[in-house]
Amino acid sequence: MADLTTELAGVRLPNPVMTASGCAAAGQELGQFFDVTELGAIVTKSIMRFPRSGRPTPRMVETPSGMLNSIGLQGPGIDSFLARDLPWLVQRGARPFVSIAGSTVDEFVELTRRVVNSPGVSALEVNISCPNVENRGLVFACDPMQAARVIEAVRPHVPEGLPMFAKLTPDVTSIVDVARAVADAGADGATMINTLLGMAIDPDTLRPILGGVTGGLSGPAIRPVAVRAVYQVHAALPEFPVIGVGGIRTGADALEFVAAGATAVQVGTVIFNDPSAPMRVVRELDSELDRLGIASVEKARGCAHGGVGQ
Ligand SMILES: Cc1cc2nc3c(=O)[nH]c(=O)nc-3n(C[C@H](O)[C@H](O)[C@H](O)COP(=O)(O)O)c2cc1C
Repeated sequence: MADLTTELAGVRLPNPVMTASGCAAAGQELGQFFDVTELGAIVTKSIMRFPRSGRPTPRMVETPSGMLNSIGLQGPGIDSFLARDLPWLVQRGARPFVSIAGSTVDEFVELTRRVVNSPGVSALEVNISCPNVENRGLVFACDPMQAARVIEAVRPHVPEGLPMFAKLTPDVTSIVDVARAVADAGADGATMINTLLGMAIDPDTLRPILGGVTGGLSGPAIRPVAVRAVYQVHAALPEFPVIGVGGIRTGADALEFVAAGATAVQVGTVIFNDPSAPMRVVRELDSELDRLGIASVEKARGCAHGGVGQ
């Protein structure tokens, strides 16, 4: 058995596998498939200040090797999340990474204050990259300066010892520039990648299938993009922890991200057809490391860059 324990921006996790935001709500649904405390962390759906109904239906469509969604940050709002969802995870002893999303910098700050004052939170994930908002101008992570503005504003409100990760979009010319900007602004690490903006057209009506017209592409189709992004950022900022996400279905997929430089990984879209996938990925990651004779996840990290840990 390989050593799967992972140190992520000062937080010790039993293994590097987490759920991806938006793919497992706040964890309750997964409780019937496995013990949520056994995962490295549970990343909750991005929460906003007020309840939100999201974008018009239909909001999901299958595509080759992936899917498009235009959920649009539907959710109960922060009050309900803190009263109902977060306590469930905390009482069970899971490690909640709380994802927040705001339409303005002030909203991010207010959400941060509320979340960090709630006991049991293990980390904050600041989603500055959701592509499914009506106003694409709101995607802070499309611009290094806008991304930095959010992180700089949030930073003073995050207590020492509570890691804060910026969730980045691949829909940019240089994700390294955005990662550098959020690192300089005080993020403890980056989660990458969010979905890519895409769309699908109905072959009979020749109209867009999604009610919101465009949506976020996720699943295996985006894995090479995500691995590339992790690799580039690790090469440019080797000390900056990266959580890799995008199309992970198996332990071998997870190991690909670790080799590219990820300190931890998240499992998203596959959960919709295999809710037990996150724990299966943990077991398969262990077997993959054994198969390759690598003693620990930490030894495998960054291998693709040559020489690391070998
Ligand atoms: C239905 C759905 C909802 C999502 N909602 C969120 C969200 O609320 N916040 C967020 O940061 N990412 C959200 N994501 C993006 C995922 O967390 C992840 O970054 C992306 O799907 C790539 O990983 P995957 O290919 O394993 O799904 C969502 C993805 C899907 C498919």
